[in-house]
Amino acid sequence: MSKPRVAVLISGRGSNMMSLIEAAAAPDFPAEIACVISNRPEAHGLARAQAANIPVRAIDHKAFADRPSFDAALDAALAEEQIDFVCLAGFMRLLTRAFTEKWAGRMINIHPALLPSFKGLHTHERALSEGVLIHGCTVHFVTAEMDVGPIIMQAAVPVLEGDTPGTLGARVLAQEHVIYPAALRLVCDGRARLEGNRVGLDAFEIAPPALVVPPVG
Ligand code: GRF
Repeated sequence: MSKPRVAVLISGRGSNMMSLIEAAAAPDFPAEIACVISNRPEAHGLARAQAANIPVRAIDHKAFADRPSFDAALDAALAEEQIDFVCLAGFMRLLTRAFTEKWAGRMINIHPALLPSFKGLHTHERALSEGVLIHGCTVHFVTAEMDVGPIIMQAAVPVLEGDTPGTLGARVLAQEHVIYPAALRLVCDGRARLEGNRVGLDAFEIAPPALVVPPVG
């Protein structure tokens, strides 16, 4: 049986995209990365995906009059590629309610903070200026409101003496690369499901590292 087809949507460097591509290369991964789409034609991630032999598309949002027409073009591309699941990976574009509702339960995002804290941009700067002692990242189902959808997986990291946004961001990013493929695996396996405004999660047996919830193997 063929695996579910995943599109990864990016706008920039694509390090999370690469973590998904690398994880999906494992024979037991329950999905294939079928294409990478960027709203910015110059995104560095497109070249990285091509080098990994993943089909890429650029859909330049500047060529569209408004959000609905861009989202319609995106949706048409996903239909052409016969996509089952969408991963937003540093995709810096708000999506319309119609688009998010159409893909509800089949579209996930990675955010560089422990939601519901620090929605939006500049999360590491804000975490440092608030003086939090624990920071991290979140994979969640995408809903119409930005950075709000039901949480599938989180990883926490300590904030250390002398941290800068750069050092803290690097510590968080390393965990993003662990939990995004793990969360995609759960979603594609049907072990994490959108159920109303919560995530239905089946128990699974994997050794728990300290700070990832639910545990990742
Ligand atoms: C990541 O920190 C991700 O959490 C956020 O945007 C950044 C994208 O980085 N949404 P990359 O393009 O995956 O390297």
